[in-house]
Amino acid sequence: MIKFNKPYISGNEEKLISSAISESGIESDGQYTKLCQSFFQEKYGFNKCYLTPSCTSAIEMAMLTLDLQPEDEIIIPSYTFSTCPNPFIISKVKVVLADCDKNYPNISPEHVKELITPNTKAVMIMHYGGVACDMNEILALCKQHDLYLIEDAAQCIDAYYKNKPLGSFGDISVLSFHYTKNITCGEGGLIAINNLNLIEKANIAREYGTNRASFKQYNLPHYESVGLGLAFFQSEINAIFLYAQLQDIDVVSQNRKKLWDHYFNALKGLASGSTFKLPEINSNATSNNHTFFITVQNENDTNELIDYLAKNNISAVKHFYPLHQSKFHSGKQSNNDFPNATRFNNTLIRLPLHHYLTFKEINFIVEKISIFFNQE
Ligand SMILES: Cc1ncc(COP(=O)(O)O)c(C=O)c1O
Repeated sequence: MIKFNKPYISGNEEKLISSAISESGIESDGQYTKLCQSFFQEKYGFNKCYLTPSCTSAIEMAMLTLDLQPEDEIIIPSYTFSTCPNPFIISKVKVVLADCDKNYPNISPEHVKELITPNTKAVMIMHYGGVACDMNEILALCKQHDLYLIEDAAQCIDAYYKNKPLGSFGDISVLSFHYTKNITCGEGGLIAINNLNLIEKANIAREYGTNRASFKQYNLPHYESVGLGLAFFQSEINAIFLYAQLQDIDVVSQNRKKLWDHYFNALKGLASGSTFKLPEINSNATSNNHTFFITVQNENDTNELIDYLAKNNISAVKHFYPLHQSKFHSGKQSNNDFPNATRFNNTLIRLPLHHYLTFKEINFIVEKISIFFNQE
């Protein structure tokens, strides 16, 4: 079976974990957590970074940091991961879903603009597959309407917009190191607090709703509850694992680019108005090649092609199931018409892409896609 995903393993994870157990220890917020956080601050220019147990928990921490209130609204793409709206819904903040662009499944700035009301306090964007949203438009809207920007860069390590790293744009940005991501520690996340006015609130949110961060920094006699917070520490063992992988980011990114380009070039001749389309990447985006996908004509083709590939031992998947069509969210807002998100849900097929995929395997996948369309 050609697997859809296989996590990257650097080979240094075990060695580093063994030596850390006997040397630096595994206490949370330890040496390797700090090394990972500094890596993102120094390489990508993020302001204050904290590792978190997952990207979902980083979004929860973002909610507590922004302290949004029940009458507030946040605009979130419909075409995104299921947990993204939940921390806000749990806090009774009104989640307003937005459609994606016509040509690429990133949030549509035009639709965001239409959805802004006097109650809108924040916009959360998601860069699909490590390809940047239209940041010029998004940043201008946030500035004009005084909105916080949360940047869901879950899939975006080492991806850029006009040469500026994704994750460095949001007042708060979040990344994932789930085992499906380019760099992983099994489960893990990061929150970057780029708006320095939010640091104090973030520290309270992260450290149990207490002033423990100031207690440690200024040697206070005790720490106590000063607000709302939970425990957002990543396990130090995961941080060590992650640190081993981060050292290889350039190798991982270069290899994924080679694989992505190979797919693109091999499929170019087959793509047409009556078969499928290749992804349209805007020229301001430098992708980290997190995903490779094609879009076919209709849902029927999607299901048939996925079945045909599975019969040929190739694992291909649909992605994402948009929130507005889901059992839980559908019908919750007056306008449930999201034509672009619906179309991407019906027609987008993700093909296998991981560090260990070979050109030979890609050629085999392309051959099967070619046969599928020639048979039709
Ligand atoms: C766009 C996006 N946001 C958030 C998440 C949540 O990440 P995690 O699994 O680390 O909680 C994911 C997970 O795949 C994702 O793709």
